[in-house]
Amino acid sequence: MNTIIEPFRIKSVEPIKLNSIKDRKENIKNADYNLFKLHAKDVIIDLLTDSGTGAMSTEQWAGIMRGDESYAGSNSYIRFEKIIKKYFGFDYVIPTHQGRAAERILFEVLCNKGDVVPSNSHFDTTRANIEFQGANAINLIPNKYNDTQSIYPFKGNMDIDQLKKIVKNKSNNIPIIMMTITNNTGGGQPVSLSNIREVSKIAKKYNIPFYIDACRFAENAYFIKTREKEFKNTSIVDIVKEMFSYADGCTMSAKKDGIANIGGFLCANDKELSKKEKELLILTEGFPTYGGLAGRDLEAVSIGITEAMDEDYLHYRISSTKYLGDKISKFGVPILLPPGGHAIYIDAKLFLKHIKKENFPAQALACELYIIGGIRTSEIGSLMFGKFNPIKKTNTYASYELVRLAIPRRTYTQSHIDYVVEIIKKVYLDRTIISGLEIVEQPEYLRHFSAKLRKI
Ligand code: F0G
Repeated sequence: MNTIIEPFRIKSVEPIKLNSIKDRKENIKNADYNLFKLHAKDVIIDLLTDSGTGAMSTEQWAGIMRGDESYAGSNSYIRFEKIIKKYFGFDYVIPTHQGRAAERILFEVLCNKGDVVPSNSHFDTTRANIEFQGANAINLIPNKYNDTQSIYPFKGNMDIDQLKKIVKNKSNNIPIIMMTITNNTGGGQPVSLSNIREVSKIAKKYNIPFYIDACRFAENAYFIKTREKEFKNTSIVDIVKEMFSYADGCTMSAKKDGIANIGGFLCANDKELSKKEKELLILTEGFPTYGGLAGRDLEAVSIGITEAMDEDYLHYRISSTKYLGDKISKFGVPILLPPGGHAIYIDAKLFLKHIKKENFPAQALACELYIIGGIRTSEIGSLMFGKFNPIKKTNTYASYELVRLAIPRRTYTQSHIDYVVEIIKKVYLDRTIISGLEIVEQPEYLRHFSAKLRKI
């Protein structure tokens, strides 16, 4: 079959308010050319993030009604723990309100000042939580993967030679090795099972705990099944079990492949470590059988995790992201290749060659997509990762200038995506008239959330 249908029917709808280019010009100006400051009601297609924005199933809503809100030992936690243990295989399961809460607890327990934490690529909250402990977060992606136009099946893989060098260097204290699957900041690219095995082997040899940032574990498993010959005939569930069997624990934001609106967890095999983590959890998140979540949220997560591994769903999910990537590539739009699992990333450096990095080409493109089509995306470039030094009055810039079109799970239909394609085509044809931006006001940290910009 050539047509891949959405493997669900729509039972409840949320109206989208259509507005005009004139309205949107006004809205983006009032939002200081910062898409985080737009009101969601003024957005037609919201591709800002795939985090917590997916549609829940009838089973998940039924689970919400079944949620047991007991403070301690609720049935919802018992079901949650059983499901996580079944698929992820870890001995200790701690619920948290979202991914970064799991990260905060893990790194507070494990990291000290001056430590080094290697990963394929740290997500920004992971990096921030490591740096908050005074430790150094290091990305180990092979150089050849940094070219957005190069095509490799597992562009999320960690550079094994670089990892070996870092662990052999005795001056590095490495409390943990992380692996993000799929690699979000590097384009939603997958990691192969053979790479997971190799990293785990090195970690074991040097007695370093190996953890997986599991946010998009099901999407990663689907790429393994379809791209790694050895697993062609293995079920997604068995691939998932094998992926985690090589790790000592994981952090998870269930807002992604948990298809829930909120939730996360932290897993470990080490009893002593999990005891310390639970103590910290009680301080800020809550009792270990709810961890900052309601019983009903635990139900939504346990059901969502199971649904995310459904092969028909995954086939549709990965194919529909690719559909968007292929369509816009066809008429020349430069995207990070190959298409990722949860998002398409437009290379704004190549799209808007006339805009210098000092004028934020990716943010300028993101604003234009909003003005022309009401589409909200996110900038992953110098606005997000660049920095201004107020003392020296100097700027640093990111190596990529990307616009991420993150696709919420089970939320938009193919005609919504066709509309996105049409808008991108229009913006691409008129690209030479797009002008850059400059910052008027910025905070010291995480400036992309609240900076004020203006058109030049
Ligand atoms: N790790 C990865 C790989 C992520 O993509 C995210 C969140 C987190 C950890 C943190 O999880 O948001 O539940 O605290 N990514 C979102 C995004 C925000 O838009 O990519 P969280």
